[in-house]
Amino acid sequence: MNIPWIRHSILARRWLDRLRYDAPDFAARAFTERRHWPPYSLRAFVGGAEKFDEVGPWFLTEFRNLGLFHFGVRILDIGCGCGRLAYALAADEALRELQIEYTGMDVDRASIRWCRRNISPRNPRFTFYHADCRNASYNPRGAMAAVDYRFPHADASFELILLTSLCTHILEPELRHYIEEIARLLAPGGVVYATFFLYETPEEIAAGIHRHGIAFPFVQGNFAMSCEEYPANAVAYSEAFVRALIQQAGLRVIEPARYGVQDVLLLTRPE
Ligand SMILES: C[S@@+](CC[C@H](N)C(=O)[O-])C[C@H]1O[C@@H](n2cnc3c(N)ncnc32)[C@H](O)[C@@H]1O
Repeated sequence: MNIPWIRHSILARRWLDRLRYDAPDFAARAFTERRHWPPYSLRAFVGGAEKFDEVGPWFLTEFRNLGLFHFGVRILDIGCGCGRLAYALAADEALRELQIEYTGMDVDRASIRWCRRNISPRNPRFTFYHADCRNASYNPRGAMAAVDYRFPHADASFELILLTSLCTHILEPELRHYIEEIARLLAPGGVVYATFFLYETPEEIAAGIHRHGIAFPFVQGNFAMSCEEYPANAVAYSEAFVRALIQQAGLRVIEPARYGVQDVLLLTRPE
């Protein structure tokens, strides 16, 4: 369908996906090992209905290689969506031994409802909660501004904080606030794994599609958008700006940053 509004509205697309694909997708999965997956429309909402079983395990390997798991590690997954990471973490036998404590938070009520009904009952150490914060693309009718949201956890509550494909969808004031909150929530010696679309110069990001595979033609101050009407659909940030926010919040980047389709920054709080 080539109506621009539908093409750009993530929520409108989800409604269409629900109508068109959820039932046939459910039927196709019903007698396979994919029967426990979230519905098509929730998987597509986090950016890839078909690759649900690739992305989660990919991150799992990545976290393992980086040495981010240890016994009893407390994990906060901000913007957890329909549990792409949680699903992979919960399914991993070796991790079960580590008794990790996982908390997932998202502004999307439907995704959290699915995770609570389908992941938590089988994995009591996995909990999920909904925060009704506004995001123009993902939760436009949210009751509160994300910049006013205080995460309901005590200081230093988590050793590992995950933000996969979240900072690519939040605007500058929210990003600043979330980095401050993360600095508060991170336990000494803990690590933040965050992905971004980063750029060096406005000219570079505006020039066309580069490593991120998305065009960001609308540059505004420290960030660039793929779509002016729906700025939270995909947001790229000046790397210097993000690094300054991180430093101001009292966090430190564990070098080197890793650049790819999404750029990865690992952060820690100097002890
Ligand atoms: C592209 S999805 C990524 C989901 C998940 N992290 C993953 O990698 O599968 C972005 C998610 O961020 C959530 N989100 C958007 N704004 C948010 C905010 N201010 N706080 C928390 N989550 C937010 C959306 O609802 C959506 O589920």
